[in-house]
Amino acid sequence: MPTSPLLTSPTIAGTASPKLENAPLRSMATARGIDIGAAVAIPALRNESIYQDTLARTFSLVTAENVMKFAAVEPARGQFNFSDADFLVDFALNHDMKVRGHTLVWHQAVPAWVQNATWTKDELKEVLRNHILTTVRHFRGKVFAWDVVNEAFEEDGSWRKTIWYSVIGPEYLELAFLWAREADPDALLFYNDYNIETSGRKSDAVYTTLKNLRNRGIPVDGVGLQMHITLAMQSSLSSFKSNLNRLAGLGLVVHITEMDVRLQTPVRPADLEKQAELYGTVLSICLNEPACKALVTWGLTDRHSWIPQFFPGYGNALLFDENYLPKPAYNALVAALR
Ligand code: G3I
Repeated sequence: MPTSPLLTSPTIAGTASPKLENAPLRSMATARGIDIGAAVAIPALRNESIYQDTLARTFSLVTAENVMKFAAVEPARGQFNFSDADFLVDFALNHDMKVRGHTLVWHQAVPAWVQNATWTKDELKEVLRNHILTTVRHFRGKVFAWDVVNEAFEEDGSWRKTIWYSVIGPEYLELAFLWAREADPDALLFYNDYNIETSGRKSDAVYTTLKNLRNRGIPVDGVGLQMHITLAMQSSLSSFKSNLNRLAGLGLVVHITEMDVRLQTPVRPADLEKQAELYGTVLSICLNEPACKALVTWGLTDRHSWIPQFFPGYGNALLFDENYLPKPAYNALVAALR
């Protein structure tokens, strides 16, 4: 493993880093017309200069891992707190990076004041409408793409019985897109989900729903394939390819929005090589599909990843290791771009 070219002298946390030369991944991706991004953990961005430098040099796009979610942005009714999200957006724009907004409507990160109250349909519609209009207007012109609705379907293709579905009904989905468009006519509006990368009941349901929405003129511009995967995905790549193709056929932009490839720990070197191959192949497939415009990893470094906490016994899922050294997966993405 080569010494990281990314290690730099520390800067004061929270201040803009000195302008550093972009790493090959970022410059080559830009040249190929695709964005490579990472989800950002705000505590690390605020406190670690190496996190800031690695992020800005390597990626052309950021997503907020947590700080744009409903509970973070509107912890009490009508009281909006954008301070962490603004910090990220300012950092990104200062480093010529795009920002994906994540996420306006989800069944998680719903604040207690919403989740634990009893609502009529009209009341909850007003809550959601105000949340979407206020949040999207706040970031208008800065967030280029929004995950408007996240994870609305179950594995069997049925609607997830969220508070939004249960109180408002399935029309919450299209209402969310209409309100987001009203708040920012220029942002790309995405539906985002996991386990929809390949064919199956869930991805069929998403495909059919998005087709129906677009036929009816509902402003859905894109679909986010989260891609929280394991090495087992290696045997489903042809299905991924054809699924990408059918989504593109609807006129949708496709982003890979949350990619990570979790490995069993303690990690074996051979698995790091297999992981690298998978990252590289996924990017190659994306590059071969003109509608596929971004590949975002769900985190920057294995030091700050959701995987070990949520999947005990797994880890090492990202492009940079715990010491911010680029892993074989990083080199595989560079090779795919080349
Ligand atoms: O910040 C608090 C901390 O103060 C507290 O001590 C600690 C105690 O549990 O919780 C911390 O907050 C946690 C937060 O992550 C930051 O680490 C929350 O409990 C925890 O629920 C939260 O999990 C996030 C999860 O979404 C739920 O919002 C993960 O970081 C985040 O990676 C994950 O991201 C989701 C995407 O949004 C949607 N797709 C799936 C993906 C992975 O689950």
